Amino acid sequence: MSLSRKILQWYKQNHQQYPWRETSNPYHIWLSEIMLQQTQAKTVIPYYNNWLKIFPSITSVAKAPLDTILKAWEGLGYYARARNFHKACIMLHEKNINTVPNTLNDFIKLPGVGEYTAAAVLSIAYKQPLPAIDTNVIRVFSRIKEVRALFPKSKKMIFKYVQNDFLHKSPGDYNQAMMDFGRFICTNGQPKCNMCVINKFCNAFVNNSVNKFPLKIKKVKKPHHHVAVGVIWKNNKILITKRPNAGLLGGLWELPGGKILPNEQPQHCVAREIKEELNLEVSVQKKLHQIQHAYSHFSISLSAYKCKLIKGAPKLIGCVDYRWIKLEDVNKFAFPKANHKLFNKIYD
Ligand code: ADE
Repeated sequence: MSLSRKILQWYKQNHQQYPWRETSNPYHIWLSEIMLQQTQAKTVIPYYNNWLKIFPSITSVAKAPLDTILKAWEGLGYYARARNFHKACIMLHEKNINTVPNTLNDFIKLPGVGEYTAAAVLSIAYKQPLPAIDTNVIRVFSRIKEVRALFPKSKKMIFKYVQNDFLHKSPGDYNQAMMDFGRFICTNGQPKCNMCVINKFCNAFVNNSVNKFPLKIKKVKKPHHHVAVGVIWKNNKILITKRPNAGLLGGLWELPGGKILPNEQPQHCVAREIKEELNLEVSVQKKLHQIQHAYSHFSISLSAYKCKLIKGAPKLIGCVDYRWIKLEDVNKFAFPKANHKLFNKIYD
C-alpha cells in the first residue's frame, strides 16, 4: 500500500471531529481555514460556532459593520484575518456572489487568501486536487525524505514529493489527513514513531535521525513593551479610543496611552500620549492596576492610571474614533485581551 493510502487509512480511523469537518458548505470551510491560520483548533471551535450563528452567510458578513466583525473575533488575535475576511466578503457581495469562488485564480485574489488557504478550502469544499502545504506537511516529508533545507527552500522540494504522493480522488481528506498526522504523530517535539503507520517509508526513522529534521530556525526572542494608559472619568463614564484599521490590533478599541519611553516615568507617558493622540490635558493620579500579557509577537506590562481631565475635547489625532462609555458597557466593544484584564480592576 502506498504511503498516502496508509495515511488516509490512519486518518479514517483516527481523525479529529471538528465542526468544520461535518459540513460541505464552502463558506463554513473558508471561515474555518481563516480562523485556523495561526490558531489551534480547540481555540477556534467556539469562535467558529458563534460566528456562524451571527453571520450565517457571506452576505451577512458583507453587510455587517467592521466593529461587529471585530467583536465576534475578539480574543482570537491576528485581527487582520477578520478585516481581510470582511473585505473579501464585501468584494464577493458587490458582485452578487454568495459563495466561495471555485477556481484558484478567482479565490486567491481575495484578501487574506494565500496559497495554503486556497488549496485547503478548494480541496475540502470542491474536491480540487491542490496540495495544502503547511509546517506539519513540511515536517512529515522532510523526515520521510531527509530533506535538509530551511523553509521556504524546502517548500519547493516538498511540494514535488507531495504532488507525487497526492491522492487525486480525495484531495480534501488527503490534506486534512496530513495535517492531523503531522500534528498528532509526526510531531515537532516527541514524534510518536512507534505509532507511525508509515515508519518503514521514513528515511529519518530508518536512519535514526528523526530529531534532526526539519532543520530548525532559531527563534527570535519576543520583545517586551512597557505600556501605560489612562482611565479618564467624566460623568461616570470613561474615555476609550479606537486604533486605526491598518496595523497591529487594528480597528480595536483601547484605553488611551502608549509605550513608555526609555527613562520616562509612566505617569508622564500617560499625559504625553493623551496629549499627542487626543490633544487632551489630564493630570495623572494614582496607579490603579498593572497586568502582564503575552501576545503572539510581543509581550507587555500594562499599567493603568486614574486621570483627571483638565481641559480640552478629544481630537482624533492618533486614533480614529472615541467614545465616553460606562464601565459596564465595555463588553459591547472589541478590545485587545490585555485591556480586558484591566477592566474589572479599574474602579476607583
Ligand atoms: N488547520 C488548518 N486547517 C485545518 C483543518 N481543516 N482541520 C484541522 N486543522 C486545520
